[in-house]
Amino acid sequence: MWLELWLQSTTQLLLGLACLKFSMQANSSLQAVHILILSSWRSGSSFVGQLFSQHPSVFYLMEPAWHVWVTMYQNSAKVLHMAVRDLVRSVFLCDMSVFDAYMPWKRNLSDLFQWAVSRALCSAPACDSFQRTDITSEMACKTLCGRYPFSKVEEACKTYSHIVIKEVRFFDLKVLYPLLTDPSLNLKIIHLVRDPRAVVKSREQSVKALARDNGIVLSTNGTKVEDSKYKVMQEICRSHVQIYETATLKPPGFLKDRYLMIRFEDLVRDPLSEISEMYKFADLSLTPTLKSWIYNITHGQGPGKKKEAFKITSRDAVNVSQAWRNVLSFQKIKKVQEVCKGAINMLGYQLVDSEKEQRDLSLDLVLPRRQNQFSWSSFNPKN
Ligand SMILES: *[C@@H]1O[C@H](CO)[C@@H](O)[C@H](O)[C@H]1NC(C)=O
Ligand SMILES: *[C@@H]1O[C@H](CO)[C@@H](O)[C@H](O)[C@H]1NC(C)=O
Ligand SMILES: *[C@@H]1O[C@H](CO)[C@@H](O)[C@H](O)[C@H]1NC(C)=O
Ligand SMILES: *[C@@H]1O[C@H](CO)[C@@H](O)[C@H](O)[C@H]1NC(C)=O
Ligand SMILES: *[C@@H]1O[C@H](CO)[C@@H](O)[C@H](O)[C@H]1NC(C)=O
Repeated sequence: MWLELWLQSTTQLLLGLACLKFSMQANSSLQAVHILILSSWRSGSSFVGQLFSQHPSVFYLMEPAWHVWVTMYQNSAKVLHMAVRDLVRSVFLCDMSVFDAYMPWKRNLSDLFQWAVSRALCSAPACDSFQRTDITSEMACKTLCGRYPFSKVEEACKTYSHIVIKEVRFFDLKVLYPLLTDPSLNLKIIHLVRDPRAVVKSREQSVKALARDNGIVLSTNGTKVEDSKYKVMQEICRSHVQIYETATLKPPGFLKDRYLMIRFEDLVRDPLSEISEMYKFADLSLTPTLKSWIYNITHGQGPGKKKEAFKITSRDAVNVSQAWRNVLSFQKIKKVQEVCKGAINMLGYQLVDSEKEQRDLSLDLVLPRRQNQFSWSSFNPKN
């Protein structure tokens, strides 16, 4: 009798615990992981975004704060920090009403900036043309999924365990502290950096496209500017130093296991190892389809291999990541090194002192990450 009662109540307790666990899992907002890919223009962040976007557990948006900057273009990046942060927080919580302030009242899913690069907006429940486990392409998605109502964005978001946002519009890690300590969020930050000299080369290929954003970075009250004197570059480099230093030198407790720095060059040289590290950090696992896709894109195989902007092949990509050494003049390199010296040193790149060094590709300017960064071991998410 006594034993039976005890067994009964234990069973009930266990059942109760199981139910509780189930209901907690069922509540996706409780369990969701929020990943912010924090980067700057032309640093490989579209590629990294795709690595997450194509994962069947991930709801991904690329640059949602583009809408904030476009709407309030006469303000400075610093002034817009709070509005950008507020938008990012709402998107993490799948509250898309935040776009009311920045978009027309009558709108479609396709009014969202770069919506078609998000696999989640190209598959169910946002669009019926693709499965969640499909690898989607921007082109195919644009043709098939553009006319769905905007409400699909929120509906889809709520069905995912991982919300991932890529942003280039934060210049200060402290701006994100309120999100890191927000109990309704589970925020992890992937800080993606790239050799500033390679960034400059890439920015030169899209001068016009960057002019408005440059004005906001330099606070020109809406005037577009070309970054001919590398003032924007200087600001970008300063922000990478600030973010990296803040996260690694004396990080506040709430940053523990929530910050991961990734260099684009490492990703290009050893994609699988870096991707595995990012996935592990994000609590995601590689599916067989993703493995095949990643193999394909890093080996130049599969459909649409020449078209996709994020496509890298190991050999090509290593070359591309070094292209600045052949393309830029030593005069330019010297200027960039002047304004970005701190970032180049801190992120583990080597300065060149002469044109000879610049052109000599046998000289590796990317130092091994873990050896170079003295504070890394104390802040490695693997520990
Ligand atoms: C479940 O999520 C909703 C938001 O989707 C939230 O309002 C509610 O409080 C959560 N339930 C629990 C038990 O936390
Ligand atoms: C939104 O989709 C509707 C049809 O579903 C279409 O009539 C309308 O033109 C679209 N609007 C935009 C801005 O694309
Ligand atoms: C910014 O530009 C607008 C017009 O485009 C002007 O009315 C305003 O006075 C300017 N603000 C400053 C601080 O210069
Ligand atoms: C990878 O490429 C092969 C060969 O082109 C193709 O059969 C396969 O479907 C591709 N995998 C993915 C996931 O795209
Ligand atoms: C990469 O660069 C090296 C040295 O400049 C060159 O010899 C090689 O052909 C390039 N490889 C590719 C795939 O472009």
